[in-house]
Amino acid sequence: MHLVAPSLLSADFTRLGEDIEMVNRSEADWFHVDVMDGVFVPNISFGMPVIKAIGKVARKPLDVHLMIVQPERYFETFRDLGVSWLSIHYEAVQHLHRAVFQIRELGMKAGVVLNPHTPVHVLEDIIADVDLVLLMSVNPGFGGQKFIEQTYSKISKLRLMIEQANSPALIEVDGGVSLDNAGKLLSAGADVLVAGNTVFSSKDPLDTIHQLKGMGS
Ligand code: DX5
Ligand code: ZN
Repeated sequence: MHLVAPSLLSADFTRLGEDIEMVNRSEADWFHVDVMDGVFVPNISFGMPVIKAIGKVARKPLDVHLMIVQPERYFETFRDLGVSWLSIHYEAVQHLHRAVFQIRELGMKAGVVLNPHTPVHVLEDIIADVDLVLLMSVNPGFGGQKFIEQTYSKISKLRLMIEQANSPALIEVDGGVSLDNAGKLLSAGADVLVAGNTVFSSKDPLDTIHQLKGMGS
C-alpha cells in the first residue's frame, strides 16, 4: 500500500494547528515538511521554531525535505526535533555518501532528493544505502506548480535500479501531484505521494486524502 504525505507548505499558517489536526485524523501517513533557505531555492519557508511546534501536535512521522545548502550543519538539530525521515538534495551536498550515513547514524531514515534535471543514474552507487529517493516533479521552491511529465520515466528507471540493487528505498514524488496523475504515478512505481495544493486547496481535504489513499488499489 502506498503512502500519502500532505505538504504543510500549503497549509493555512494562521490556523496551522487545525490543519495538523486534520492530517492527524485523516488517512495520511506522514507530514511532509519543506525547509527552504532562500539560497538553494528562491524562497524561504520556515525553520526550527515552527518545526518544533509542528512536532508537538503531529501524531504521524515528520518527513522533512531540506532545500538548503550545507544541510549537514543541522542533522542533529532535526533529530532532536523528532524528525523520522530526513531528505537532502543531491545537488546541495559535496559528499552524499558521508551525509547519508550521518543521517542514518543519528537514527533517522535517509532520503536523497533529485531535481527535475538530475538523472536517476547518479544514484547508482548509493542506492543500496538510502531509505528513500524523492523525485522532484516540479522545480523546488513553491507549492502549486505544474507537474513535469518526464517524472513518469524517471520513476520507472529508478524502480528498476532499486530492484537490481535490492535496495530498501521508497520512491517519493513531490510537486504537482493531483487526483488526475496519482494513479499513473503509482503504476509507474511510486510509493509515496506528496500533495500540498491538492489537499489543502480542496473543499474537503479529508476526502481528498481518502481518495489519494484509495488510488491504484
Ligand atoms: C516544493 C515542495 C513541495 C510542495 C508541493 O518545493 O517541495 O513539497 O509543497 O506542493 P504541491 O503539491 O502544491 O505542488
Ligand atoms: Zn517537498
